[in-house]
Amino acid sequence: MIFDCAVMTAAGIYPLLAGTVIPRPIAWLSTCDDKGQHNLAPFSFFQLVTDNPPTLMISINRHSDGSQKDSSLNLQLCPELVVHLVTPELAGLMNATAAGFSKDVSEITALQIQTKAATKVRPPRVTASPVCFECKVVSLTPYPAENPSCDIVLAEVLCIDIADEFLDEKQKLKHTKLDFLARLGGLWYSHSQQSDNFQLARPVSAQAAVQSQLPDSNPA
Ligand SMILES: Cc1cc2nc3c(=O)[nH]c(=O)nc-3n(C[C@H](O)[C@H](O)[C@H](O)COP(=O)(O)O)c2cc1C
Repeated sequence: MIFDCAVMTAAGIYPLLAGTVIPRPIAWLSTCDDKGQHNLAPFSFFQLVTDNPPTLMISINRHSDGSQKDSSLNLQLCPELVVHLVTPELAGLMNATAAGFSKDVSEITALQIQTKAATKVRPPRVTASPVCFECKVVSLTPYPAENPSCDIVLAEVLCIDIADEFLDEKQKLKHTKLDFLARLGGLWYSHSQQSDNFQLARPVSAQAAVQSQLPDSNPA
């Protein structure tokens, strides 16, 4: 079946996109306003943009009346953030921070979440998250320009904080240990450590790629 987006509502399109572009990592965003009032909220429209300069993208939806979420408002007042990755143990707490707390209530205070000072930015760092990125905002772009439905945030990573237990003696990541929560469609979640995870080496050449898929062919 072809779903023609031109004749669909955003509410109809959302479950098809969010249920198929999966799994999506979760950015647990710590921000603050210009007076230091904290905010913590999860966002799964989140990706790596480039490693040079190291840049992340987070898309923060607008409310149905077009107003901005607290995270977007804060990023305009203090263009600094901490992006945390979420372990399965933190699922309940992360989910609780997505509730509709009013602007003057910090999720960190209301839910008694333990934090510590970040090293390069003003928003605090959630202590229990084993990996976080301290970032500065490069741009916050309402999208689409007319009648925006979201704010697209590009954030440059200033430093990466990784718990020592996930690094070997050469400071390389222990890929089989890192376990982060990801969003699927509906109320479903996944996480990165699965028993059927596998490794796949890149083909060494175009010829090797063809031979691996079409062993009987005889490429010129
Ligand atoms: C796992 C998860 C992922 C979410 N992803 C997004 C997202 O990508 N974009 C978005 O606007 N809201 C997303 N939300 C909803 C926000 O977290 C929620 O609206 C939150 O209240 C926003 O907080 P704020 O107003 O303090 O910024 C997500 C919620 C959960 C639980």
